[in-house]
Amino acid sequence: MIQSSPNPAGGTILLIGASRGIGLGMVGEFVRRGLHVIATWRGTAGADLHALADAHPDRIEVETVDIDLPEQVAALRDRMASRTFEALFVNAGTANMKDEIAGEIASEEYARVLVTNALGPMRVIEAFQDLVLPDGLIGVMSSGQGSIANNGNGLHEVYRSSKSALNQLVRSYAARHSVDARALVLLAPGWIRTRLGGPGAPFGVEESVPMLVDVLLGRRGKPGLAFVDRDGNTVPW
Ligand SMILES: NC(=O)c1ccc[n+]([C@@H]2O[C@H](COP(=O)([O-])OP(=O)(O)OC[C@H]3O[C@@H](n4cnc5c(N)ncnc54)[C@H](OP(=O)(O)O)[C@@H]3O)[C@@H](O)[C@H]2O)c1
Repeated sequence: MIQSSPNPAGGTILLIGASRGIGLGMVGEFVRRGLHVIATWRGTAGADLHALADAHPDRIEVETVDIDLPEQVAALRDRMASRTFEALFVNAGTANMKDEIAGEIASEEYARVLVTNALGPMRVIEAFQDLVLPDGLIGVMSSGQGSIANNGNGLHEVYRSSKSALNQLVRSYAARHSVDARALVLLAPGWIRTRLGGPGAPFGVEESVPMLVDVLLGRRGKPGLAFVDRDGNTVPW
């Protein structure tokens, strides 16, 4: 059972993609840290998120968005028009079969991964950035596999390329907002046992999420873009 203080001092975070896995774990951890959380699901499978929200009705709001669909992003933006956020974090992401070679997969499959992992997060950032406080934080879940410099084995090449594209897009956003006082974070969480990470990953959600939230919230008040891992170390681009 999460112990929550009655008056959240940490502000409000909009957390996109919180129905399961790392995102669901982050909802509980942000509440423990004193934040109010607006957590999104896609409206299909999110029983655990709803159970958590039912246990903390004063601290967790559940909203619906599929970041692949611009009309749903716009509709959520409309519903949030009167709100402001200390932080926005886009956790939503997808993967494909790890051994698939880019040149051999269907165009639709490549587009699916790229839209969810790179274009979708940027749509969310562009739509919601004006609701994030001037000294707030905007973060996205990237991956160590998005690092071009660290690509030594080539596996997961479709997924890798989508996270590299995400990193590049966020760098472009940062360049366009170079005088912005907000912190921008690309987070590489490590290999974690989730539906996406699979059962063979070395880390669990429960042990990983407090580290990830430490790193993320530790970037508050530090303007500019950082690509950091679960220990807060810079990841080579
Ligand atoms: N697990 C790892 O080892 C690992 C490593 C590096 C990076 N990451 C990244 O960490 C993030 C979370 O991954 P995870 O391991 O927790 O995976 P997961 O258990 O598969 O969860 C993925 C989450 O993203 C949501 N999502 C997927 N597509 C979406 C869309 N179009 N719109 C809105 N939400 C969407 C899912 O919602 P539904 O329930 O509706 O599908 C779910 O909540 C992802 O960005 C992933 O790339 C994970």
